[in-house]
Amino acid sequence: MKDFAGKIVFVTGGASGAGLGQAKVFGRAGMRVAIADVRQDALDNAAKELEAFGIKKEDILPLKVDLTNRAEYTAAADKVEEVFGGPPHLLIQTAGVNSFGPIEASTFDDFDWVMGVCLNHVVNGLLIFVPRMIKAYAHKTEFWVATTSSMGAFMAGSTTGPYSAAKAAVCNLMYSYADALKPYGAGATVLCPGNINSNIGNAEKFRPANLKNTGYHVSEGTMKTLRAIHATGIDPVELGEILKEGIENGRILVLPDHHPEN
Ligand code: NAI
Repeated sequence: MKDFAGKIVFVTGGASGAGLGQAKVFGRAGMRVAIADVRQDALDNAAKELEAFGIKKEDILPLKVDLTNRAEYTAAADKVEEVFGGPPHLLIQTAGVNSFGPIEASTFDDFDWVMGVCLNHVVNGLLIFVPRMIKAYAHKTEFWVATTSSMGAFMAGSTTGPYSAAKAAVCNLMYSYADALKPYGAGATVLCPGNINSNIGNAEKFRPANLKNTGYHVSEGTMKTLRAIHATGIDPVELGEILKEGIENGRILVLPDHHPEN
């Protein structure tokens, strides 16, 4: 996909971190930007940041939605069509959470929360949007689906089980979509970053009340350590530009931290 101006992008997790960076980059490329996130305060701040970044207020649509909830996600998709006049030409699913601890101590809540956001929301979005995108745009105009996975997709670790498994599944799924969408003149891209300067170190603070039974050691100290690690990560706008370049070049897999020349 090469032409973005005047089209619609839908970014999940768009109120923070990588998702907000992507919203800025594709908004700057002339797209109308819908950002979907579960946190209203973060959405309010993100809308202001997008305006300050130069995106027109009427081109910004913040949507408060728990993307693991299919009815809520479907309602958000309906809202985009109502406000922007059609489904997104570009779907970027970036919402994610993490929680780390010994795999053998994991609870069902640990798996349900991490895989619910990192994998199931991606499935929800693909099933809700792709048929609408095909109906509206196939053979008429370019459209694309993208997902933010992680380098974790390629690394299994004793403390990263649910996260790595979800990210690996997302990668695999995007290869299926890349193949499936080709006949419609569309494609798929999966972004696998290493470390991003984002707010994911605070994810545990927003874990839903019904999934709080964790088997891991979660404390202000562990969150502080995560925040310190992520503070050294790539800038979200820079990462958004890398994703854009990947989509423009029709790449399925985009590995921002892979530098074979080094
Ligand atoms: P972030 O915490 O800054 O942004 C993630 C957003 O997802 C948050 O605004 C959060 O409210 C939203 N979210 C969480 N659960 C949701 C739900 N049920 N419904 C709607 N929105 C929900 O974190 P970051 O780092 O920007 O994460 C973006 C993606 O990048 C995630 O998929 C993450 O796994 C991935 N990633 C992050 C890395 C990092 O170092 N931070 C490295 C590699 C991948």
